[in-house]
This record gives sequence, structure tokens and C-alpha cells, in this order.
Amino acid sequence: MTGLLRSVISRAYAESPNVLHVLYALQRQFLHISDEAVREVASHLELPTSQVDAVIEFYSFFHRIPRGRYDILFSNCTSCGYMAGGVNLMAVLGRQLEIVAGHTRGDGLVSMDQTSCIGMCDHGAALLVNGIPIVSLDVAMITRIAALVEAAMPLEDWPAEWFHVEDNIRVNGLLLKDDLPEDISLRAIFAHGAAGTLSEIIHSGLRGRGGAGFSTGMKWQLCREAQGDAHYIVCNADEGEPGTFKDRVLLHSYADRLFEGMTVCAFAIGAKQGYLYLRGEYRYLLPHLQTVLSRRRELGLLGGDILGQPGFSFDIDIVVGAGAYICGEESALIESLEGKRGIPRVRPPFPVTHGYLGQPTVVNNVETFIAAVHILRRGSAWFKAVGTEKSAGSKILSVSGDCAAPGIYEYPFGVTIRQVLDDCGAKNAQAVQVSGPSGTLINSAEFDRKLGFDDLSTGGSLMIFNQARDLLAVIVNFAHFFAHESCGFCTPCRVGTVLLKNGLDKIAGGHGTRYDLDEMQRIAALVKYRSHCGLGQTAANPILDGLQRFPQAFEQRLVHRDYEPHFDLDAALEEARQVSHRDDTAAHIE
Ligand SMILES: Cc1cc2nc3c(=O)[nH]c(=O)nc-3n(C[C@H](O)[C@H](O)[C@H](O)COP(=O)(O)O)c2cc1C
Ligand code: SF4
Repeated sequence: MTGLLRSVISRAYAESPNVLHVLYALQRQFLHISDEAVREVASHLELPTSQVDAVIEFYSFFHRIPRGRYDILFSNCTSCGYMAGGVNLMAVLGRQLEIVAGHTRGDGLVSMDQTSCIGMCDHGAALLVNGIPIVSLDVAMITRIAALVEAAMPLEDWPAEWFHVEDNIRVNGLLLKDDLPEDISLRAIFAHGAAGTLSEIIHSGLRGRGGAGFSTGMKWQLCREAQGDAHYIVCNADEGEPGTFKDRVLLHSYADRLFEGMTVCAFAIGAKQGYLYLRGEYRYLLPHLQTVLSRRRELGLLGGDILGQPGFSFDIDIVVGAGAYICGEESALIESLEGKRGIPRVRPPFPVTHGYLGQPTVVNNVETFIAAVHILRRGSAWFKAVGTEKSAGSKILSVSGDCAAPGIYEYPFGVTIRQVLDDCGAKNAQAVQVSGPSGTLINSAEFDRKLGFDDLSTGGSLMIFNQARDLLAVIVNFAHFFAHESCGFCTPCRVGTVLLKNGLDKIAGGHGTRYDLDEMQRIAALVKYRSHCGLGQTAANPILDGLQRFPQAFEQRLVHRDYEPHFDLDAALEEARQVSHRDDTAAHIE
């Protein structure tokens, strides 16, 4: 066994020295990472075993206990989750395979669990089997999946159409039309020079598309000016915000444009190495992305002396994440790239001066790099002419939920929510969650608000909820998401997100009181203002927005008492009653 372990480790290490890559290889081969494997990894990579252990524990796709040969993970997102048409598909599969969620079956054939949104929200219910997505699930498909698993049918022999993930592009705009010749932007940067390239990006007014909206030109300039042994570029393709899937489509159908954008940035800031940090849920896109990278190397668009430009060398490696939403936060992402747990760093210093390996680093979203290409192709004035004063250009949206045509929509900034709802065929919408659970929940009186940094800023997700939806259930789902994804580093978020989740569960379960609502407001404020990073600072948004805009969703579930404890003492005595065969009045608290 030790020989096999060592050969898996050294082969994976030769492909990529990143710890996550080595752990993935072990997880795939042995279905778990044993004590012996931990020791071997630590010795091979010259790391303390405690660090390897901590990394495995941190990422939800690594396991110390064996998973099944078919490892099935259902998305629990409100848009691509396992509840389809009121049916719990995970429970259906569980019954058919005689397995409980969170467990591996005794014969080791199959394990089943739920996981945070897998970015398939335009396809309805979805799951990952051994890391590969199957979308548009219904009961009939679940029954067939159960039979294929029982027959131990290799995944290659499952219906090929199940693994096809459509882009679902519904409205094209500045970036998605993509009607100019390949790599014209690289010719443009050589003509502009590095300073001129930077100046084009600055003048375009481009702001980051990952959500925070920081000026891209300023970020690139700060990085270029920062002192260091090397400069790095990182593309943030972690896309873990529930309801967001536009980067999935960009990676699938616009990968050339993305790598071109990273190359433009490399020229502007003087970087020789870039990384694409791909979320683990999109691992199925890896072969395609590697093919695009290889082709670009063959064409002289990556590597040494790009397009014959002496001294301009740049290449890109891909590192795959392992199921941790927090790794979308740029400093946590850099930690993860360095093979550590994704714990957000204390900032300042910021990545532009102290990023990957402590060196100046630009971290940008997939869409930001692609927008940079188009700016270099057509000029900053062309880009700036579209959108609003503070929000130049267009935004690509992931639209999901209660609408006829979920998918990808690109609009100039300044588009109203109402326009998007009309275009995607949303009827009777009562609420829209803009920018995912960490964003803003708005009601129908606000549908004339505009998307952009001037009003409703967004990383690109729009989740639509019609009048039939139980909004409290949606908010409960979001609270569970944050409690699960909190990295645990700081107390307000680690404890606060769990308290908020518990409070909401109590209300949804019909045991909430006015006291609980007041208490949740108090805790929500604490989590928002005392947490270390953006996850904690936004985790209470759905609750606060919900209480402000949809108070009835909470109040109609309250019991008419001032206070009811979280702990149900009477229920806790049930086991004792059963053991003692008592159910008389004196055996109950009330
Ligand atoms: C919890 C959390 C998750 C995030 N996830 C992502 C993500 O998946 N993709 C992304 O581009 N930015 C994400 N961000 C924002 C990044 O920290 C960073 O601002 C962004 O990658 C910068 O790129 P941009 O300027 O092009 O937007 C996240 C931030 C937080 C706090
Ligand atoms: S706010 Fe939450 S996610 Fe961010 S560092 Fe603190 S515990 Fe981790």
C-alpha cells in the first residue's frame, strides 16, 4: 500500500505541487485520505502532518472516512437544490438505495450527501456524481440513477445527455457577442505599451465584476508599482455564491477570451505567471480549459516571447478548489493557492502588494478579465459609452428561480430589475435576491431599481421568487448556507451564523416568539459589524432584509408567547419516558 500511496503522491506532485491537487489524487484513488496518506503527503511535501490534516478537515471534498465508489452530492441551493416540484429528490434516492444522507452504504458502493449550490441554477435540481454534474433531475431520472448505481455501471456508460450542461445564453451584450477576430487585443497592447494598456483600462472605468466593484485600472496600477521578486495574476473562478453561474458559462464558452484577458493584465503589470482558481464543483471543465491553454501555447499566445514580443513571457496554471465558499474571498483564495486552509488574511496589506507568496498580485473575476479584452479591442471610450456614470459597460447576470427562461443575460449597467423580469418571463414575482444570499433581497415595490454600483450592485446573480414561495424557507436556506460555510476563524461569524440559523429554524418550526425576532436582530447586527471578512459581514443580510421588507413572512409563524426556550425540555425527556414506559401527566414538564 505504501508503494501505491507514494506513486500516487509523486505522480500528482509532478503534475502540480499544490497540496490540494495531491489530496484530490489520493481522494480519487482511495476514496478517502488515510492516516498513512497524511504522513506520506507531509513527508513528500515537507509539511507538518498537522497542516495536511487541517487542510483535509477544512475542505468539504476531502474525507478521512471512505466515501462510496459512487459519491453523490445533491445541491441544496434554492434554485438548483434537491427539492423539485415539492418532491425531495435526495430522500427519494435515499429510499431507493437504502442510504441516509451524510453516510456511505455498508457495502461501500455509494455515499450520498448534500452540498452548497453547485452553480447549475438554470437547470433545476442538480447533483454531482464523482464530481461530475447531472442536471434537470426528476423522479424518473433518480430511479434510473439508483438502478445504474446498483448495477455498478461505470459513469462512461450512463446516458451521455445527462452530463450535458447547456450555456442557456438568452441575451447577448458587449462581451457575449464576441464578434471581433481572435487576439486582436494582444496586438493592441503591443501597440499601446504597458503604460498605455494600463491607461486604457483606467480610462474605461472598468470595475471588478466579482461583486465589490473596485477599480480594475487602479488595482492593476497599484500592483504594477508594487515592489517584489515577481508579480502574479490570479483569476477568481470560485463562483460559490448561490444563484451565480455566469462564470461557469464564460469558462465553458469564452475560455480563450479569459486567458487573453489574463495575458493583457500580465503585460500591463509585468507578471510572468498566472493562476486560474477553479471551484471544485466546476472540475468537469478542467479538461476543456487545459485544452484551450495547450492550444494557446502552441499558437504562441502563452509561454516565452508571446507573439514574437521579446521578453514578454507569461503562462497560466489551473488550481482546483475543494468545496469551500470562503475561498472566493481573495485573500482566502490566495491562502488556498498556497496549499493552506482558506482563512481570510488580515488586510491591509492587500494582495496588490502582498498576495500570492507575499508578492504583488492582481486578483480579478473571470468576467473582469474578459471585459479588459474587449476594452483593448475597441477602446476605453467605446466601453465607457455604455452603462451609467459610476458603472461603465455591461453586466452578465445569472438569472434563476421562478421564471420561464432561466439563464445568462447581459445588459448595460442601469437596467431595471423589471426589465430583466419581463425578459426572462417571470410572472407574479414577490421578491428578487440580487447578488446571491450575501446581496440584497428586494420586494416588488423596488423592481424599478437599477443594477449598477450606483444602486443595486451585483456579482451577477438574480434569484426570483414568486408569490407561491415561502420566503421564510428561502431565508432559512441562506442562513444554513452561511453557518455551514463560515470558516470559523472569528467568533462573531462562527457563533453568530449558527445562532441565526438556530433562531430561524425555531421560527420556521413554529416555536418562535417576538423575543426570538428581537434577539435575531441583535445577533445579526453583531455578525454584520464585528466579523473579520465579507462572509460574516454579509451573512445576516437576508435576515435583515427579510425582516424589513417581508416582516409577515416571520410574524405569521410566531407563537403568541413572549418567550419560549430553544431547548425543548419536554421533548428531551421522551427517551426516558419510553424506557420507563411512562406517558402520564407527571412524566411531562407541562
Ligand atoms: C465570501 C466571499 C466570497 C467571494 N466569492 C467570489 C467569487 O466567487 N468570485 C469573485 O470573483 N469574487 C468573489 N469575492 C470577491 C473577491 O474577494 C474579490 O473582491 C474579487 O475576486 C476581485 O475581483 P474583481 O475586482 O474583478 O471583482 C468574494 C468575496 C467574499 C467576501
Ligand atoms: S467572517 Fe466568517 S468566514 Fe470570515 S474570517 Fe470570520 S469566521 Fe471566517
